[in-house]
Amino acid sequence: MCPLAELHVHIEGTLSHSLIRELARRNDLPIPPAARRDGPSSFGCLDDFLRDYYANLDVLRERRDFTDLANAYLKRASQAGVVHAEIFFDPQSHTRRGVPLSTVILGLSDALEEAPDRFGMTASLIMCFLRDRGPQEACAIYDEALAFRDRFIGVGLDSSEEGFPPSWFAGVFARAKADGLHRVAHAGEESGPEYVWEALDILDVERIDHGIRSLEDLELVARLKAEGMPLTVCPLSNVALRNSPADIAQHPLPVMLGEGLMVTVNSDDPEYFGGYIDDNFAALTRAGVIDGAQCRQLARNSIRASFMPEARKAALLSGEDIRVSR
Ligand code: HPA
Ligand code: ZN
Repeated sequence: MCPLAELHVHIEGTLSHSLIRELARRNDLPIPPAARRDGPSSFGCLDDFLRDYYANLDVLRERRDFTDLANAYLKRASQAGVVHAEIFFDPQSHTRRGVPLSTVILGLSDALEEAPDRFGMTASLIMCFLRDRGPQEACAIYDEALAFRDRFIGVGLDSSEEGFPPSWFAGVFARAKADGLHRVAHAGEESGPEYVWEALDILDVERIDHGIRSLEDLELVARLKAEGMPLTVCPLSNVALRNSPADIAQHPLPVMLGEGLMVTVNSDDPEYFGGYIDDNFAALTRAGVIDGAQCRQLARNSIRASFMPEARKAALLSGEDIRVSR
């Protein structure tokens, strides 16, 4: 298997039903109603999914809860061939419940620091702002997070998309750039190409998360291609949230590849959308959407589009560094 980097996964979206039950027991809490339903959930749209996603977080209270959450993801990702992950977390979804930021960041960091020894992979954190909570709250959480500046490598923008344009977050993204942090943003998932333009022109992002609706604007496609701008596409997520046709065989990923775009495959929220990164590759392959050569191309793209040091990228691309140790 080619080494893979996963560049678009929300740690909160890796919270499994079994871990929800375990944490509810450990913290003496009720099981959240959204997690009591049996069988796979179906979602009408992004906001429909986000209601369950936020409700289930109630069981995450203590530092070790966050460590257990990250360890479960790292174990599963390493089994999928992931040698490096850049993991999103949503601090506001925890601080607004009264969980201190230090509990979240230190809990996740405890797992990430051990990842080379335990799972033969590396991982970093990208702190996301909840766009529906607005720019003032984003600035406030950014200020607070600066006490943990060495624990995350970048900032991102996620949550409810439509009506919350990237331009609102120009100030906090400019500060992050000045502070030497990487910048990514969700855009073109539910919203149209105009949010992708804003993310590029106003937030100065280095990757676009999703970006599938960029295809509606030929000028944008040309710009993304010319800049080699990575797009972190999540096929099972797009199907589950009805942002692409219900039949994965109709997913726009091969069109994006055909346009010469720098596409990667990722899982987004694997416990909600039917699978981890390897499951996404398997679904695409099974449906005849991509062939073996395209799989290898997508794997190489993921290494190139990551924020790993150039020397490690080169080693991974030449097959010299499949597994890491500290
Ligand atoms: N889109 C936007 N925000 C999110 C998502 C997503 O798929 N998952 C978690 N937060
Ligand atoms: Zn996402």
